Amino acid sequence: MRTDIGQIVHLADYRPTDFVLERVDLTFELDPTETKVEARLIFHRRDGVDASAPLVLDGDELNMTGLLLDQDEIPAGLFDASADQLVIRDLPAAVPFEITITTIINPTANTKLMGLYRTGGIYCTQCEAEGFRRITYFPDRPDVLAPYTVNIIAEKAPNPLLLSNGNFLGGAGYGEGKHFAAWFDPHPKPSYLFALVAGDLGMVEDTFVTMSGREVALKIYVEHGKEPRVAYAMDALKRSMKWDEEKFGREYDLDIFMIVAVSDFNMGAMENKGLNVFNDKYVLADPETATDADYANIEAIIAHEYFHNWTGNRITCRDWFQLCLKEGLTVYRDHEFSADQRSRAVKRIAEVRHLKSEQFPEDAGPLAHPVRPTKFREINNFYTTTVYEKGSEVTRMIATLLGADLFKAGMDLYFDRHDGDASTVEDFVKCFEDASGRDLKQFSLWYDQAGTPLVTVSGHYDAAASTFTLQLEQMIPATPGQSTKEPMHIPLRMALILDNGSEASPSAVSGGELTGDVLHLTERKQTVTFSGISSRPVLSLNRGFSAPINLHFDQSSADLAHIARHDSDWFARWQALTDLALPNLMQAARDIQLGKAVACDPVLIATLLEIVADDSLEPAFRAQALALPGEADIARELGANNDPDAIHAGRKAIMAEIARAGQQTFVTLYDSMQTPGAFSPDAASAGKRALRNSALAYLSYAEETPARAATAFAAANNMTDLSQALALLAQRFPDAPESQAALSTFETRFSDNALVIDKWFSIQALIPGETALARVKTLMHSPHFISTNPNRVRSLVGAFAFSNTTGFNRADGAAYQFLAEQILDIDKRNPQLAARILTAMRSWRSLEPVRADHARAALLTIERGAGLSGDVSDIVERMLKG
Ligand code: BES
Ligand code: ZN
Repeated sequence: MRTDIGQIVHLADYRPTDFVLERVDLTFELDPTETKVEARLIFHRRDGVDASAPLVLDGDELNMTGLLLDQDEIPAGLFDASADQLVIRDLPAAVPFEITITTIINPTANTKLMGLYRTGGIYCTQCEAEGFRRITYFPDRPDVLAPYTVNIIAEKAPNPLLLSNGNFLGGAGYGEGKHFAAWFDPHPKPSYLFALVAGDLGMVEDTFVTMSGREVALKIYVEHGKEPRVAYAMDALKRSMKWDEEKFGREYDLDIFMIVAVSDFNMGAMENKGLNVFNDKYVLADPETATDADYANIEAIIAHEYFHNWTGNRITCRDWFQLCLKEGLTVYRDHEFSADQRSRAVKRIAEVRHLKSEQFPEDAGPLAHPVRPTKFREINNFYTTTVYEKGSEVTRMIATLLGADLFKAGMDLYFDRHDGDASTVEDFVKCFEDASGRDLKQFSLWYDQAGTPLVTVSGHYDAAASTFTLQLEQMIPATPGQSTKEPMHIPLRMALILDNGSEASPSAVSGGELTGDVLHLTERKQTVTFSGISSRPVLSLNRGFSAPINLHFDQSSADLAHIARHDSDWFARWQALTDLALPNLMQAARDIQLGKAVACDPVLIATLLEIVADDSLEPAFRAQALALPGEADIARELGANNDPDAIHAGRKAIMAEIARAGQQTFVTLYDSMQTPGAFSPDAASAGKRALRNSALAYLSYAEETPARAATAFAAANNMTDLSQALALLAQRFPDAPESQAALSTFETRFSDNALVIDKWFSIQALIPGETALARVKTLMHSPHFISTNPNRVRSLVGAFAFSNTTGFNRADGAAYQFLAEQILDIDKRNPQLAARILTAMRSWRSLEPVRADHARAALLTIERGAGLSGDVSDIVERMLKG
């Protein structure tokens, strides 16, 4: 066991290692329960380090059977080995030396899925962040880089395939029934990028010719029989490689790029050098089993992991505090990639929806932390939406502040200056300062200050003076450990929209800097005046969501409707619709609580229906317009003391009003948005399906019968339509015989496809109301449910806790206690998974008092659990304290 549980690591304590690692040579003799690992490590003492300083290596649950210095056994008195650390004393002061460590590990018993483990009969590794230390003793930190040679020895029959990072050196038979393979990765890398895969898998092969004319072999490995479902992932990979050359000038740097899909994986995917390992959910797709969302996720994640080859692997992080340096930047890159492959505006809307529903609550709750944290207890718990999505937004803001050309120059400088480095956020920002000549000191506060800034705005038009004056004020809320904040540099894209829909061009601006359409808010309070505005404009602010802020601006329904109809920025149009809808949804929740009838603003209904019926607009955009803010969004706006049942009922009532008013529109859309012919996952077809399925959902409110959804279920010829019809039946009409029949048809038809059965679990886990808990408990006894598989657990328990607002937040607190029991149970096997699912309760403090008390009690149950992991205790304690 690790003994450092509870110890806090501080950014301020960073210092380089005493010893420099020159080379790594690993030999694995694979065995399901007793794998022998021999690690030969060549070190030298760093210049200036005291000759008495010992070599301290990390371990985690290790068992050492041999230790040599330059091939001689090290006497017992000169080292201390425990399960989690190896300390060696009396090492040479001036010359390089070789340490050989032998450990015996048990991949079958490894249920944490960190280090070397078994999944679906194969051997596989996951080393980020601190998993390599579960394989051998090592300086397991990202600033220790070395070239690796890896030798793999295994039984040949069950393991025809022996893979590791880099280029294949060769292989041969090795005694009776065994064989071996050797790999060499010439690119110095940190241990978290190490990978090994062995076993018997099917393979799909292709090639890519890079911009300098080199041919790269592309290989995707999957379970036998699943090869036909790899085509889309392979295509996405080739498009990613091309895009990174065209947009960022980045070429791939090995002769081979491999992806292995596995069925037990804690995360989505991992960017190991030359050998990405993927959760099979993000590789396998065909029309019959994958939804449009699955296709989009596969494209994005394949791209993301590939892009890490430059942002993460060639340039890595000095320490884990700099995680956003690779993750935030790479998310930004995969967002841009998807925007280029699909509709940019629709992609941006989806990103902002996600940011607001995931990152904003994190930033407003007890787990809030800066994009670059300054301390942590368990690094696994900092792979957060703040590091990822807010980290991406911060990168996007640099691009907004500098403009495309200077941003590109800064990126080029970064690649040039830091290739081969383990870098910091400061290094990154400095490249943009040097490339642009712009001072980014104040801007850098985005990395350091947690909390979503609140910007309050008011506007005044002076007809006599032809001026428009804006008063802006920024406030950054207190977050755990940060009670006071400095004002930030907030880039706000804006336009002043005139009556006819055109944009005013001010003759002068005072009180603030305006570069292009970007207004720079830098003071706590700022008054900005635009001159030469000949008629009253409507302000469109934070266009494209140029800054991740909460904006308080009391705009009339008429002004919002004007933006929704006329803004040339599609994101702003969607945002205006959202701003029109939110007060209605909030008022509806309040009215339900007071037992009053719910009413919807006719301006909202009219604007929405006009946009939805406008055939000049992309269907995918219209579908986004129809998807009203979710229950979590409404809860967030309501702030403290919210009642999930009232929010749910209020939202349904508003949807029903819109549905009745627009019934004819929805019928027309449902009939016209067909996608005849063979299924294609392209964005335009997906957009039509999205719009058609939202029309179907609204019609279920107007018609109040399951008939149409049941017909849609029977007629569906792709997984998007099928699963949406099923969800509608199950969640809107849970007791209808049609719904029960559809659920059982679906289960029977896909009983041999675990990834599709996951959809079946999630759809049922999201059926609203008090009955949900009993249903989830029953489903846990289904033969399809495998408690050791993270995808199954996330699909059922995770979906219930994260997304079933009424079912999970039932007033008696029974679901919180259920989650507590589940967390304690999962924690015994897989702490990382347990800790992540527990974050579903991160907004517990804003619940109404009765529910909040129940939630606290459940958290206390977890906190008192016997043998709690460091992962879970870190989360539960911060949730109770913050
Ligand atoms: N490096 C991560 C995978 C990872 C995360 C390893 C946490 C260890 C701990 C990988 O690049 C990643 O970010 N994957 C994401 C998907 C991505 C598209 C945002 C994931 O796994 O969710
Ligand atoms: Zn990543």
